[in-house]
Amino acid sequence: MNGQKAATATEVPPPMQMLQLMSGFWVSRCIYIAAKLGIADLLNEGSKPADELATTTGAHAPSLFRVLRALASVGILTQNQDNRFSNTPVSETLRSDIQGSLRAFAMTELGEEHYPAWGELLYSVRTGAIAFDHAFGMPVWEFFAKNDENAKIFNDAMSGMTAQANEAIHAAYSFAGINKIVDVGGGHGGLITSILKRNPTMRGILFDSPQVIEGAKTRIAESGVADRCKLIGGDFFQSVPSGGDAIILKWIIHDWTDEQSIAILKNCQQALPETGKLILVEAVVPPGSDFHFSKFMDLNMLVMTGGRERTATEFRKLYEDSGFRLTRIVPTESPFSVIEGVKI
Ligand SMILES: C[S@@+](CC[C@H](N)C(=O)[O-])C[C@H]1O[C@@H](n2cnc3c(N)ncnc32)[C@H](O)[C@@H]1O
Repeated sequence: MNGQKAATATEVPPPMQMLQLMSGFWVSRCIYIAAKLGIADLLNEGSKPADELATTTGAHAPSLFRVLRALASVGILTQNQDNRFSNTPVSETLRSDIQGSLRAFAMTELGEEHYPAWGELLYSVRTGAIAFDHAFGMPVWEFFAKNDENAKIFNDAMSGMTAQANEAIHAAYSFAGINKIVDVGGGHGGLITSILKRNPTMRGILFDSPQVIEGAKTRIAESGVADRCKLIGGDFFQSVPSGGDAIILKWIIHDWTDEQSIAILKNCQQALPETGKLILVEAVVPPGSDFHFSKFMDLNMLVMTGGRERTATEFRKLYEDSGFRLTRIVPTESPFSVIEGVKI
């Protein structure tokens, strides 16, 4: 009781809490600038003043200084007495040269094509329709097919996030016993190559849109498992490759409505043998009002693709409607869970 009173006395007053939360959008935009200009890469060489960083990045020095000072005020950078800026462990995550870099994720999610879509969140809330399509006049996957540079950043972002999550996924879930795995919508192959590396006799198929598969070729060739990983381009609404005893889909089903998800999963059902396994890697929205990454990613899906994040009950129903029985949900030390199912 006393402890509770003490905590209340030191609480930030509600208007200040609200102002802090409101500035979250400004913080995000500053993170975008740091990512876009490659600030964390430049600071990896040592501390630097804003004008030196501005000269290298082609920015306006006094304005860049203000962005960096703001980032330092929330612990993303540090600013010393001489107004030189340094990386912190948080800004290090934006370095391009690290495993699981979040730089491309910050660029795509906080700027580029996601930002105008989020600007139309009210449109989605009023109509239930997809803000991205309203802002750009086409669905996001068509936009990526037509805009190579945005697509490259997006695919790099997915690879970075997957590399972030891989350790947690493998620590929680064993893929042993699978002979051949098909990664449907596997992007540039970060997940399937990590699975094949850990399971030396397993074979795999990486499946995605033809233009994404084209972009995956170099990465797969350099992965060390190219001889065990076949690449196939196609459309998962038409069909998915057969021949695997397991199909994995990471961060695919959240992009789509229930109806579209069932269409994809039914194609997986058809491609799998009777004893086949379906493995989704997705965030599972927890009940209650605690913070979870999925609750805001859910809004990202609302504005970008018309998809959604789902609860355990919603996943169970989706499996049943697609001819699967959900057998277990394995949480990991990342926002993702591994959701396993078998054919009914
Ligand atoms: C959110 S990304 C996830 C990528 C990857 N699984 C990961 O987690 O890093 C969704 C993927 O679905 C792919 N995709 C979208 N529509 C597709 C379609 N109709 N057929 C095949 N792949 C598609 C995209 O190209 C993209 O790589």
